[in-house]
Amino acid sequence: MSEMPAGFAGRVVDWQQAHGRNSLPWQNTRDPYRVWLSEIMLQQTQVATVLGYYSRFLQCFPDVAALAAAPLDDVLGSWSGLGYYSRARNLHRCAQDVVALHGGQFPRSAQVLQTLPGIGRSTAAAIASFCFGERAAILDGNVKRVLTRVLGFGADLASATNERSLWAQAEALLPGENVAREAIPRYTQGLMDLGAGVCLTRNPSCMICPVRELCTALREGAPEKYPVRTRKQKRGAQSLWLLKARSTDGAVWLEKRPATGIWAGLYCLPAFHSRAELEAAVAQASRADLRDDPAFVHVLTHKDLHLHPVTGVVAAPPVGAARGAWFACDEWTRLGLPAPVRRLLEAGER
Ligand code: ADE
Repeated sequence: MSEMPAGFAGRVVDWQQAHGRNSLPWQNTRDPYRVWLSEIMLQQTQVATVLGYYSRFLQCFPDVAALAAAPLDDVLGSWSGLGYYSRARNLHRCAQDVVALHGGQFPRSAQVLQTLPGIGRSTAAAIASFCFGERAAILDGNVKRVLTRVLGFGADLASATNERSLWAQAEALLPGENVAREAIPRYTQGLMDLGAGVCLTRNPSCMICPVRELCTALREGAPEKYPVRTRKQKRGAQSLWLLKARSTDGAVWLEKRPATGIWAGLYCLPAFHSRAELEAAVAQASRADLRDDPAFVHVLTHKDLHLHPVTGVVAAPPVGAARGAWFACDEWTRLGLPAPVRRLLEAGER
């Protein structure tokens, strides 16, 4: 167990004020709807990408009641391109729960926020600290890097016990009970900003770090050793053949994916496990006209998808396509589509 560095929280707070990010669109508000939305979008997506979606999403769904009342397809449509669509489905369910179970107001404590769909311990703490000044510790991937280095926390985070121990230390590092309320959100944001811009996975900028004098990893001379996590994610791979079938008048055939599995609930080109299966779904007369476009890899969280697009003009809709329909160009652009499928369709329009 490591010593707790004195002055850690104060340095993070002062540094955030002077050098952190202070004018992102989800800052300078205590509206939990806006903060929650940003935290969910930022979970697996870079700030630069989120900036292109955040305000548009808010225009479509200006408050939690509007989001709760919207059809899921509209929400997925606005999310389209951000990836990790379970976030959008949980977002919608969460809005509905806030309305149905909490009278349309977000709960004000991290503990209760955490009971909502899609809100884990760290996200709940971020919302509660930003909006309500709660002394609640965050511990996302970036913050784990900062804290394990400062503390010299070398235990393997693949173990739940060690992870719990790091949570406990994250709580011990929080600003004291007596600090100004503004210090809490600033501390939370400061940890995020350090993780995103200074305490980088490779080549961290220790020279400009406000906690370098307290940092065990720097003193040891090898900050990149932390965090320690032995369990290598075993990545799977899967091949899918995607049929880009066009009607004679240029519409494209899309199917709604099942509610579970890859791209659940999104619209997608018909997907098959082999070229032969794909061919079998196309009317005999159109098979000779199918053209293989270059295959490419799309990276999901747990596996690499090897996608093989096959294009053709077909006389009849593909068979076995349960919930499919023809969509003209001005129709499919608004649908919730997996990012690689959207790119394929856009490429076809050029
Ligand atoms: N990543 C997660 N939350 C964030 C925030 N509030 N600001 C910047 N990046 C973030």
